[in-house]
Amino acid sequence: MDADLQNEFNGDEWYGNHIERVIISADAIQEKVTELAKRVSTDLADSDDEIILVGVFKGAVMFMADFARALSVPVKMEFMALSSYGDSTTSSGTVRILKDIDSDIKDKNVVIVEDIIDSGLTLSWLLKYLEGQEPASVTVVSMLRKPGMQHTDIPVDHLGFDIPNEFVVGYGLDFAERYRELPFVGVLKSEIHQNS
Ligand code: PRP
Repeated sequence: MDADLQNEFNGDEWYGNHIERVIISADAIQEKVTELAKRVSTDLADSDDEIILVGVFKGAVMFMADFARALSVPVKMEFMALSSYGDSTTSSGTVRILKDIDSDIKDKNVVIVEDIIDSGLTLSWLLKYLEGQEPASVTVVSMLRKPGMQHTDIPVDHLGFDIPNEFVVGYGLDFAERYRELPFVGVLKSEIHQNS
């Protein structure tokens, strides 16, 4: 571990006690937010259609907040709350809407802002759902992806990082609703998630 990461890791006893190692530092995340926001701003700068960011509670909240503030184009922000049930490890899992978007997205530029693509179930469902409302365009931005875990081909226009298939928390990702507020992404110690 390099010196900066080690400092961050030791910066708070509580974090240090639970996190096995940091895999993406807070600085690296913020650099990536800036880069992704610049790319999306450039892509959509010449469009006359309104831009609507769509994030899914709760994981995407941190990225959504940082990403929206790093854009150089005006946007509206929308959030959905979803609940998946059935066998969520297969693409046949079902998604139920607990909270829908409030805006009409027809003929608008929609940007889906996700924290992580794991099985791809959430995103593949969301794409179909939003595309059914006839937006002018749909762009997918995700900070993280676990490669090889998707059951179907998931189009991602702008990706932050591919990460190993480990138990990661931080920057919106939780274990039992905790750790979302960590500014970095780290691997949770196995004794923490196996003993709960
Ligand atoms: C997480 C994450 C993504 C989804 C990705 O949400 O925020 O939306 O899982 O996983 P998938 O590719 O396998 O569908 P989760 O359902 O854990 O809820 P949360 O955001 O409230 O933690």
